[in-house]
Amino acid sequence: MSKKFTITTPIYYVNDVPHIGHAYTTIAADVMARYRRLLGDPVFFLTGTDEHGQKVEKAAQERGKTAKEHADILSENFKKLWVKLEITNDAFIRTTDREHVAVVQELLQKLYDKGEIERRTYEGWYCTPDERFWTEKDIHEGKCPDCGRPVEQIKEDNYFFLMSKYQDRLIQHILNNPNFILPESRRNEVLGFLRTQKLGDLCISRPKARLAWGIELPFDRNYVTYVWFDALTNYYSATRYLSPPAEGSNDPAVRERFWWPADHHLVGKDILTTHSVYWSTMLMAVGLPLPGNIFAHGWWTRDGKKMSKSVGNVVDPNVIVDTYGPDAFRYFVLREVPFGLDGDFSTETFITRFNTELANDLGNLLSRVMTMVGKYFDGKVPATGPEQPGDAELRAIAEGMPALIDRDLAALAFNRYLQNAWQLVTRANRYVEENAPWTLAKKNDMACLGTVLYNLAESLRIIGLCLYPVIPGTAQKIWNSLGISKEISACRMDEERAWGRLRPGAVIKPGEQLFPRIDTKKDSGRGSDLLNADKSCKGEKRMEPSTLTPQAEAKAAEPELIGIEDFAKVQLRVGKITAAERVEKSEKLVKLQVDIGTETRQVVAGIGKSYAPEQLIDRSIVIVVNLKPAKLMGVESQGMLLAASSGDILSVVTPDREIKPGAKVK
Ligand code: MSP
Repeated sequence: MSKKFTITTPIYYVNDVPHIGHAYTTIAADVMARYRRLLGDPVFFLTGTDEHGQKVEKAAQERGKTAKEHADILSENFKKLWVKLEITNDAFIRTTDREHVAVVQELLQKLYDKGEIERRTYEGWYCTPDERFWTEKDIHEGKCPDCGRPVEQIKEDNYFFLMSKYQDRLIQHILNNPNFILPESRRNEVLGFLRTQKLGDLCISRPKARLAWGIELPFDRNYVTYVWFDALTNYYSATRYLSPPAEGSNDPAVRERFWWPADHHLVGKDILTTHSVYWSTMLMAVGLPLPGNIFAHGWWTRDGKKMSKSVGNVVDPNVIVDTYGPDAFRYFVLREVPFGLDGDFSTETFITRFNTELANDLGNLLSRVMTMVGKYFDGKVPATGPEQPGDAELRAIAEGMPALIDRDLAALAFNRYLQNAWQLVTRANRYVEENAPWTLAKKNDMACLGTVLYNLAESLRIIGLCLYPVIPGTAQKIWNSLGISKEISACRMDEERAWGRLRPGAVIKPGEQLFPRIDTKKDSGRGSDLLNADKSCKGEKRMEPSTLTPQAEAKAAEPELIGIEDFAKVQLRVGKITAAERVEKSEKLVKLQVDIGTETRQVVAGIGKSYAPEQLIDRSIVIVVNLKPAKLMGVESQGMLLAASSGDILSVVTPDREIKPGAKVK
C-alpha cells in the first residue's frame, strides 16, 4: 500500500544568493522525493523562501529596493537554481504569499484566544542582526553568544508564546519517538539541553516602530510577528494551499489532513533548536500533530575553512552545474560525506570523484558495453546463452540492490546508498575483465558472448534505476542508450527491479560520454579553482568529446595481448629506498636512492604531489631495472618505480611483506 510522503527543506532567506548549503538540503530532499515517487507513493515536496524580517529589510535597503521588490528578485534566484539542479519540488512557498499570511494570523489568533500568548514588558539584551533576545547569563562581554556581535539593552512591551509549559511534554515526545530528531547525536544534544535548562517563553512580536517588514499580529496592529514564528508555519500553511490534491479532492481541509504532518523536515544543524523546540511546542499549543522527523545535516566548509562572502570562498552551485552538469554536483555532495556530518568541498576532491567514479567506473562501463553490443551484435541487445563465471554473483548484487537502497534511504544515509549502489558498478566492471568478451568474440563464441553482454546491459539498466534519484538525467541517458524509451520518472520500482526485463533485440542508441573526464591540464590547470571555473574556461570546450569511432573504441576497450616472452623482457626487482629528496623546481619529481641488493640506483619518480620525500625512506618498492637511463629535468634516472593511479589518486606499489632488496618480481 502506498504511503503519503511529505518532505520539506528550510525556506531560504532572501537576503543572499543561493550557495552549496542551500543546494545540499534541497538535493537531499529531491532524492527522497524522487525515490518515494518511484515506489508509487503520493509525494509532497516543499521548498521556498523566507522573506520577512530584519535581515531581508536591511538587504533590501542596501540595494535601494522595497523589501517586496527585493524578495521578488532574490526568490527567483532560488527557483532558477532548482530548475538547473533538476529539483522536482511540488511547491515553492513564499512567506509573502497572501494565503500563508492568513494562516500565520489564524494560528496567532488561535493561540492568543487560548491564552497561549501573553503581553509582557520585556527588559533585556537583544541582538539586532540575529533578531534574538538574550538573558544576562547568555551574553559574554556585551556580545551575542551566537554571532559575537554587540547586543543592545532594550525595554519594550511584547507578546510571548508560553513555550515553557511544554518542556516536559516535549522531552516525553522525544523519548517516545526515537526517530523524531536525527542523527542520534543531535537528538541527545536537544534532550541534554531540555533536561538541564529551564525553557523560557518565546517573544513572538516585534514593535512595528523597530521592524515594519513582517506579518501583523491580528490582535495588535502595532506589532509584526517574529520572523521564526512566520517562517516555521510555512510547513503547515503550504499543506492548505499549495499541496497536491488528496484522495481525489482539492478541498484545503482534506489536503491538510492528508499531507500534514510532514514526514521529514530536513534542516541544517544551526537551525535544529528552532525546529525541534519552537516549532514542536507551537504545534502542541495549536493542537496539531508533530512532524515524523527533523533531520539536522552538517555544514560545508571550503578547503577546510568556513565559507564567507567577505573571504570570497563561497561555493556557488551555479558555476559547478554550468561547468560539470547537475548530476555530478548532486552525486558529489551526497557521496562525499554522511548526511549529518560536516563536509569539506575542494576542487581536487570534486575532480577526483568525477574522474574516478563517474567518468571511469560508470561512464566507461556504459561506453564499453555500447561499443561491444554495437560491434558484436549489430547494435541489438543479445539474448543470453550458457551461464558464465560470475553471472550468479552479478545478478544477486543487482537483485539485492533495491532492498539496500530502501534501508539506506529510510535512514537518509545517502552516502551509504551510493556506496552500495557502486558495488554493482564495480562488480560489473570486474565481470567485463573476468569474462573478456573480446576473447569470446575472437573465439566466435557468440552464445557465451551474448550472455556476458546481456548481463552487462541488464546490470546497467538496474544501475540506472537505482541511481535515478541522485543522477536522474544520467540514469535516463543510460536507459535511452539501452534502447529503453520509457521515462524512469513514470516507472515503478516494484515492476522494474526484476532481473531480466531488458528485452533482447532492443536497438541500442549510444549517446555521448556520460561524464567526459576532466582533464585538469587541458581545461584550466590541475586543481583549477571551481569558484572561478566560469572565468577560467572562457567558453572553451571544457570536456574532451569522444573522438573515436565505435570500432576504434571497441579496440580501445580490448587490452592488447602480449606473450610471456614480451613480459619476460621487463626485469622487475624489489628495491629499498634509502634516501629521497625533491628535484629542484619540480612539484612532481622526487629523486630516490634505491638499494636493489647488488647496487644502489638513482631513480627519479613523478610522485611528489602524493608523497613527501620523508614518507618514502625505508619503503620497499618495485622497480624496473632494465630500463634505459633517462634524464628528467636534468637529473638521471636509472630505472622506474611502479605506481598505480586512478584519477588524482596515486599509490606506490609495495610488496605486502618484508622481502630483501633485489628479490625478483614476476
Ligand atoms: N530562513 C531560515 C530557515 C527557516 S526554516 C523555517 C534560514 N535560512 S538560511 O538561508 O539562512 O539558511 C538555510 C539553510 O542553509 C539552513 O538549513 C542552514 O543550515 C543551511 N546552511 C547555511 N550554510 C551552510 C553551509 N555552509 N553548509 C550547509 N548548510 C548550510 O536559516
